[in-house]
Amino acid sequence: MAALIDKLEHAPARLICGRHDNRPDALLEILHEAQAAEGWLSDDALRTIADALNISRAEIHGVVSFYHDYKREAPAKLAIKLCRAEACQAVGSEALAAYVEKKWNAPSGGKSADGEIQLEAVYCLGNCALGPSGMIDGELFGRVTPERLDALIEQRIEKMERE
Ligand code: FES
Repeated sequence: MAALIDKLEHAPARLICGRHDNRPDALLEILHEAQAAEGWLSDDALRTIADALNISRAEIHGVVSFYHDYKREAPAKLAIKLCRAEACQAVGSEALAAYVEKKWNAPSGGKSADGEIQLEAVYCLGNCALGPSGMIDGELFGRVTPERLDALIEQRIEKMERE
């Protein structure tokens, strides 16, 4: 079984390598593009890149683990950022974050157990007058309450399920 898994080809990664003429000196750009395409770097993608560039897997893993921007886990369906800076703290952002952690079982800086939600702390979204502030998949929201946040999350999950 391991041998079969070992041979899985990752077509998008192969294509990206080809666009760079399979040049080992383009490794960082290739990794960046592969991550941009899928949001993370899977084992299949890394194996395919190593094969295409004719470099060892150890070498590629060394590079990926050195740069913290490379993600080795699939992203959650929804990325929620809650501002934890002072102005938002003054209007309840800590309680809001605690609510989300408990309700959605998503630790700050981590994913929920079901993989649906990624919760991140951020420090000022430039929306201080309308705190607590948050972002869901890059969209900014102000005056976020637990009820409003639940509704926004559920709307997005329903929308994703319809698509
Ligand atoms: S402190 Fe929260 S948006 Fe600025």
